[in-house]
Amino acid sequence: MTTIKRKVSLLEYNTFGIDATAEYFAEYHSIAELRDILHDAKVQSLPVLPVGCGSNLLFTSDNFEGVVLRSGIRDINCVRENDEELILEAGSGLMWDDFVAYTVEKGFWGAENLSLVPGVVGAAAVQNIGAYGVEFKDIVQSVKTIERKSLEPRTLPVEACRYGYRSSIFKQKTHGQHIVTSVQFRLSKHPRPQLGYGHLEAAVRERGKVNLRNIRETIIGIRRSKLPDTRQTGSAGSFFLNPVISEERFREFLQKYPAMPHYTAESGKVKIPAAWLIEYCGWKGKRVGAAGVHEHQALVLVNHGGAKGQEILQLARDIQSSVSKQFDIRLDPEVEIIG
Ligand code: EPU
Repeated sequence: MTTIKRKVSLLEYNTFGIDATAEYFAEYHSIAELRDILHDAKVQSLPVLPVGCGSNLLFTSDNFEGVVLRSGIRDINCVRENDEELILEAGSGLMWDDFVAYTVEKGFWGAENLSLVPGVVGAAAVQNIGAYGVEFKDIVQSVKTIERKSLEPRTLPVEACRYGYRSSIFKQKTHGQHIVTSVQFRLSKHPRPQLGYGHLEAAVRERGKVNLRNIRETIIGIRRSKLPDTRQTGSAGSFFLNPVISEERFREFLQKYPAMPHYTAESGKVKIPAAWLIEYCGWKGKRVGAAGVHEHQALVLVNHGGAKGQEILQLARDIQSSVSKQFDIRLDPEVEIIG
């Protein structure tokens, strides 16, 4: 029998280190346990928030009036394989980086660029995590869920998940309608290095051969040098999405700001690093009370200790308005704001 606890502190379950309380909290270790929880009369009509490490959440009120769900399904199984590739299924509660470490150890290509991304496999599926030129969706075959209303298991092929830049059907409107229980990945047994992002290729070659281990170690090194260790400093990685603008608008910007970095995005649009816009507006390393902007990565907001969710949110709003004033560009949060 699974127990649903009441009034549980979420301090341990969000990397921002915000001290909010969940009305109900339950951990499941099987699909049957998950169904029991969702079926329980106490929580049936309440909002559901699946949480892994809470590495992409900002709680802005003291209480979450719903049920926080934690997946304890953490196994990895090979579903099928041939000489070229294999399908691996990983449980939603497995730490994302433990999954990547496993694939690198076994010599399977595809996940290595996503080394050290925080969170669990289930959260990666909701968020379509991405880093160093690879997104979660590039290596996914299907996502298995329990549909909240019917309590039926569903297998959603990758196309049905409608993955976009940090978005999916599991986020936004349908949030909470599907609880991810596991993910099937398609990985290659042959080398498929993806080194096109920034100076990644040069950095890997500096370390030695282009192999899985060196790619993973290089990415771990870059991330450690830029991003805070959330065990020491509360943060949720990038706070905002990188804005996407039209090519035409970008050309106008380039005349005024010739140093503006940029990447090609979908359908001929241009992605501008929000970190650059924020730094240009003078926010990098700034501190307002216990909330602040990381000194090595302007896209990362941090909790210097004891900050309230509202303080972080206010800082985010001030950054949004100064970027809007300077560039007339709207920054949208990447972090899910729960309040
Ligand atoms: N830059 C600045 N100032 C800074 C930091 C960066 O001007 O303080 C500029 C530089 O020109 C740099 C460019 O921004 O070349 C891009 O920086 P970076 O490579 O650090 O990536 P990002 O666009 O800021 C995105 C993801 C990260 C991911 C990195 C690496 C988003 C919202 N963020 O950040 O993901 O790790 O690329 O691929 O797309 C996350 O989602 O939480 C996250 C950390």
